[in-house]
Amino acid sequence: MRDTAIKQVFGAFVRRPTRGTGLSGRSTRVSLPTNAAACAFATNPAKVDSNSAKTRRTLAFGIAAGLAGCFTLAQLGRNPLAEAPPRDDDDKDSQDPQCRLFRLDEINHHNRETKGYWVYRGDRVYDITDWVPNHPGGDVILRAVGGSVEPYWNIFTIHRNKDVYEILEQYFIGKIDPRDLVDGHAPQDKIDDPFKSDPVRDSALIIHTPKPCNAETPEYDLGPYVTPTEKFYVRNHLWVPNVTDPDSYRLTIELPDGEEASYSLEDLRTKFKQHTINATLQCSGNRRLHMTEGSRSTNGLQWGVGAISNAEWTGVRLRDVLAASGFAISDIPDDVKHAQFVGAEAYGASIPIDKACDRNGDVLLAHTMNGAPIPRDHGYPLRALVPGTVAARSVKWLSKVILSEDESTSQWQRRDYKCFGPNEGDKPNWDAAPAIQETPVQSAITSVRRLTADRLRNSGLARAYGLEEESIVLQGYAFSGGGRAIVRVDVSTDDGHSWHQAQLKPHESKGSKAWSWQQWELAIPARKARGHFCVKAVDEAYNSQPEGFEPYYNFRGNLANGWHRVPVSRAD
Ligand code: MTE
Repeated sequence: MRDTAIKQVFGAFVRRPTRGTGLSGRSTRVSLPTNAAACAFATNPAKVDSNSAKTRRTLAFGIAAGLAGCFTLAQLGRNPLAEAPPRDDDDKDSQDPQCRLFRLDEINHHNRETKGYWVYRGDRVYDITDWVPNHPGGDVILRAVGGSVEPYWNIFTIHRNKDVYEILEQYFIGKIDPRDLVDGHAPQDKIDDPFKSDPVRDSALIIHTPKPCNAETPEYDLGPYVTPTEKFYVRNHLWVPNVTDPDSYRLTIELPDGEEASYSLEDLRTKFKQHTINATLQCSGNRRLHMTEGSRSTNGLQWGVGAISNAEWTGVRLRDVLAASGFAISDIPDDVKHAQFVGAEAYGASIPIDKACDRNGDVLLAHTMNGAPIPRDHGYPLRALVPGTVAARSVKWLSKVILSEDESTSQWQRRDYKCFGPNEGDKPNWDAAPAIQETPVQSAITSVRRLTADRLRNSGLARAYGLEEESIVLQGYAFSGGGRAIVRVDVSTDDGHSWHQAQLKPHESKGSKAWSWQQWELAIPARKARGHFCVKAVDEAYNSQPEGFEPYYNFRGNLANGWHRVPVSRAD
């Protein structure tokens, strides 16, 4: 059972004839809701909640490490590749009569069910069984079981840092028998790069990590109401599944009683009413860099203002598909609380069932983005699109929807995307904090231009703002979750001492609520600008943004929405 799940997840990219075929080729029908790690995580909460020092250390690190692009020490000023591994206490180990020696054959062929998950690195052997449920990258780690972790670390280079080496050392169980070493090293498997069929990205995107691809939209492209598709930010935790035969694609709906319904793309396009909405997706880490700069270091990709984009999405309403599958969307059973989404590559997340079934919630199974099939990076052929909710719940490459009493058991639901008190540090009580769903009000300055009086006249802005002297024109976006419209954007040109109201740019927005961002603009005489420009927005519930970051600092740097400040000197 466990091996089968592993095959399904990893067979696609690893050349190891004894294990699986997986996602490549025709099939996209991947059933991963209860894959091995997720299962272990779900059914054995004691493992992750344990008070044992080891578990807490490993979990804390796991989150801090944020495998698969969840963090970048490099961007925090450390180069993980430059870190030397901890010194192997070689001499001590080899002289230690207790140090067990393993033959390679034994490691390769030991029974993982009964003996646990063994891996090696260099000539050192580890039993990582207890670590697997906490691995931030999910089940990918199982692929290395029985062999060396090094080929994987050569691809997921994020592992090459001191902290990861230290974690691994906690699971040391012995060394490889010298008879199996060549020049002091154990042999390594050759593995295919799982990212080798990732799509080519627009060169203007600001790449934070190439594998997995994490790239933000350049400020210039945050200006248009609809973000150009190729400039839409990309947030991938793993590789991009390659669906070469969309005709064989099936979406499975698992009902609470275990019954399943399944739909082809053709079914979804022809048997259901199609809906189009405009919706902004924003990563929970958008502006994390500003929290780091304005408070303390945070673990995660150091996004600037560009982990947010807006598009027009077309698809079918999830509620319609659930109803057609036999689920009572108007009389939701008490024991169904969540709609879990399963991505084809292993990612998963969930949303409250009320949102899934709400007629005005506009949750789509989207196949079209800005009038064209959704590009591979954004979920081809089908993604969940949950407007007004943190983008982490809009699962791409959707393969299955499960109606359940429980939230998704994935790392990305139970761990990464949560917030904590500023005092809680990096060992918070993960289970006590709710998973992020709707997001708070946010705004940012994306363009600062100094215009001479002549250029101001030529641009038409002179009349719009009644200005005839050298001026500074500021532009940006504002956005709030839950479909709450932006009612006001306040801009200061003097460090927050005085404020102006920006002009909100009108736009046509499709959908039941205000799912899209609001572009804004302000022009002021250049002589009035000093210190920093600041922006804060107000939504229709009169929520606004905090001035700084420290009072709501969280070590993961999620939901960073303090006033955005840009030095006036940027206009020069
Ligand atoms: N879905 C899958 N299957 N895999 C992922 O890595 N990333 C999530 C979400 N859905 C992710 C996913 C996160 S954290 C974000 S912010 C959005 O997708 C990003 O969507 P985009 O890449 O289309 O901008």
